[in-house]
Amino acid sequence: MKVISFINMKGGVGKTTSVVETSTILAKEHNKKVLLIDIDPQTNATFSLVNYENWRDNVSQNTIADVLGRNSHLTSRSDEYDINKAVVKNVCGINGLDLISSHLSLTFLDLDLSSQAGREKILSRQIKKLESEYDFIIIDCPPNLTLAPQNALVASDFIITPIIPDFYSFLGLPLLINRVKKLREDLEIDVSFLGCVFTRVEQNTRLHSEFIPKIRDVCAGDDIYSFSTIIPKNIKVSEASSSSSPACILFPNESGVVSYKNFTKELLILLEGDK
Ligand SMILES: Nc1ncnc2c1ncn2[C@@H]1O[C@H](COP(=O)(O)OP(=O)(O)OP(=O)(O)O)[C@@H](O)[C@H]1O
Ligand SMILES: [Mg+2]
Repeated sequence: MKVISFINMKGGVGKTTSVVETSTILAKEHNKKVLLIDIDPQTNATFSLVNYENWRDNVSQNTIADVLGRNSHLTSRSDEYDINKAVVKNVCGINGLDLISSHLSLTFLDLDLSSQAGREKILSRQIKKLESEYDFIIIDCPPNLTLAPQNALVASDFIITPIIPDFYSFLGLPLLINRVKKLREDLEIDVSFLGCVFTRVEQNTRLHSEFIPKIRDVCAGDDIYSFSTIIPKNIKVSEASSSSSPACILFPNESGVVSYKNFTKELLILLEGDK
């Protein structure tokens, strides 16, 4: 089992879209057993796969907020929450793709757990119970490095950073790399960057074509791989998110989707020499 977190402290760069498309493609086209964990209180990945009414009525009582210990002050460690209760199987009718959904209450996690020792390690401990069930656990993180994404980092083998090739990303990437290095030391973990992937790219603009090589150089300077597959800006990818279904199911031949399929192949080659 490989655990991969999609992380960038910058918002709106395509983390959620990349997580939803990659997880679906791994399950549908490569027959992998995949668990997508939405650890962002914005709940965007959740609602890309489950419609709101269904979530409210059937899912909202068992979410990542429960896994990470919302209400944990009411229970003792011995009757810790069972992560299996939060798993939605074959979500959106996709065989092999399971989901642990998010909840807005995750916003208060840092406060709720502020005095609990080992609070960064809850997710890592919980997902050990699922080890034999999945090939991949893919985690969608919020645009910050607060307690929930710290839990994701501790639980992860790898980080993938989606990145829009522009000036702000160029400035922000070294900060992210340094922040992750610092957390690796503080939390004594050995998560590593699997790579950066360019997203929402407009290849015919000078800005983007100028910053792709500059950002690749920043990555190379820190020994971080940058994926050769580039995800273009494609409005259909964006449209899918409002229909509670991944773009790779709704629009399988769109350029954005084809690129996510290539990205997923590149990811598998990197990890296991798979095609
Ligand atoms: N390749 C693409 N082409 C066009 N639009 C895209 C593409 N990828 C993502 N988007 C759109 O851009 C917006 C931001 O994407 P997304 O939500 O995936 O980013 P994020 O990094 O998860 O944001 P946040 O930091 O808020 O969690 C969304 O409206 C999404 O539909
Ligand atoms: Mg997101």
